[in-house]
Amino acid sequence: MTFLELEGFSVDAVASTREAMARLAADSYPIVISDIYVDERTGLDVLEAARSANPGCAVILMTARGTMETVMAATRGGAFDYIAKPFDFDRMLEVIHRAETSLAAAEGDESEIDDLPETEMIGSSAGMVDIYKVVSRVAPTDASVLIEGETGTGKELVARMIHRNSLRADGPFVPVDCGSIAPSLLESELFGAMKGAYTGSDRDRVGVFEAANRGTVFLDEIGDIELQFQLKLLRFLQEKEIRPLGASRSRPVDVRVVAATNRDVQKMVEQGKFREDLWFRLNVVRITLPPLCERRGDVALLAHFFLRKYNQRYGQNARLMESALRSMEEYSWPGNVRQLQHMMERLAILAPGGRIDDDAVKDAIQSMEPRETAGETLADTEAEQIRRVLAATSGNKSRAAKILGIERKTLYRKLERMGLS
Ligand SMILES: Nc1ncnc2c1ncn2[C@@H]1O[C@H](COP(=O)(O)OP(=O)(O)O)[C@@H](O)[C@H]1O
Ligand SMILES: [Mg+2]
Repeated sequence: MTFLELEGFSVDAVASTREAMARLAADSYPIVISDIYVDERTGLDVLEAARSANPGCAVILMTARGTMETVMAATRGGAFDYIAKPFDFDRMLEVIHRAETSLAAAEGDESEIDDLPETEMIGSSAGMVDIYKVVSRVAPTDASVLIEGETGTGKELVARMIHRNSLRADGPFVPVDCGSIAPSLLESELFGAMKGAYTGSDRDRVGVFEAANRGTVFLDEIGDIELQFQLKLLRFLQEKEIRPLGASRSRPVDVRVVAATNRDVQKMVEQGKFREDLWFRLNVVRITLPPLCERRGDVALLAHFFLRKYNQRYGQNARLMESALRSMEEYSWPGNVRQLQHMMERLAILAPGGRIDDDAVKDAIQSMEPRETAGETLADTEAEQIRRVLAATSGNKSRAAKILGIERKTLYRKLERMGLS
């Protein structure tokens, strides 16, 4: 260790884990360097002792016998870095300097929010408070609601809030992504079909409107519905009756419809691509969610909210630095809240030493931007649809398959592919 002293560091060297633990209990050290395989105890025990005595301590571990398991354990334990032996002094010095910089930066830079509100819908900006007002008024009525906003702004979340604060709260909430269902299948999806109504249908299929009886149907991407089918939907909204394909008579259902779109439907009406009468019918109350870049004041709240969520989920203790938050507040967020959520998940999992700094945010922005702006792939949309229906049916696969209009076997296959079987 004398080379460190030559470099100007003051060093306390010990010869056993027992001695190391005793020193760590008595004194606070900013940096601890330990071999992994020492004696009957290991560097991982030293790591734990050092971090519990001083959570800000940078622990550098080294070993000649590194394995995936030891690296995992070191990462989980919050090691600052992990060096394979043999190494040269420059390598060790470089890591120590990095630890010093990070310790200096960590001082007083941590961003904190004292009382994060206990709610699922985060945001205290004027724009969001206006939305809460409208939701609280409209929820208890049975009025149709149209929610507009870019992808990822929280349209589905608002729809769920409306449902949960309505008289139908105990009934089902069934989301349907109209944009991801083939136009030819949308009718049987929504209205159902009798056995034999078309080739290959060997049993009755319950439509979404029936499955959601006494509840709420969330029609997402309503702007993607074909003109032809728009008339049928309009009739349904007027009569609240369904006639499954192949059925001889209609029957009444009791559902509320909340619709959403990320397209400018008003313009589609002007261009003759969307029926004006259906537009009026859906648009009894309109809620427009502002893009995240128009409510930058909410970024800090949202970031901390998601950080807490993912820290809990992954058993981490990642902390967000002020500088990181500033970069986030300046970013344009083309993918809105969903992108922020994904980024916090990634940052919480990947934060080196549990510290999310400016560089980490810039890296994350760079690595996720192309995919976010390119939009979701078809498989993603389908997977999301499946997850939603499963959530609405509390994981009941036969019902979910019914609502999705696919065989149970097909659903199992898709779940397997999604890694959810
Ligand atoms: N204000 C918010 N507070 C907390 N989470 C939000 C908020 N807005 C959106 N989210 C989350 O972001 C993700 C995307 O929201 P979602 O409602 O699916 O957006 P959209 O339907 O507009 O694409 C969801 O996980 C949702 O829970
Ligand atoms: Mg959505």
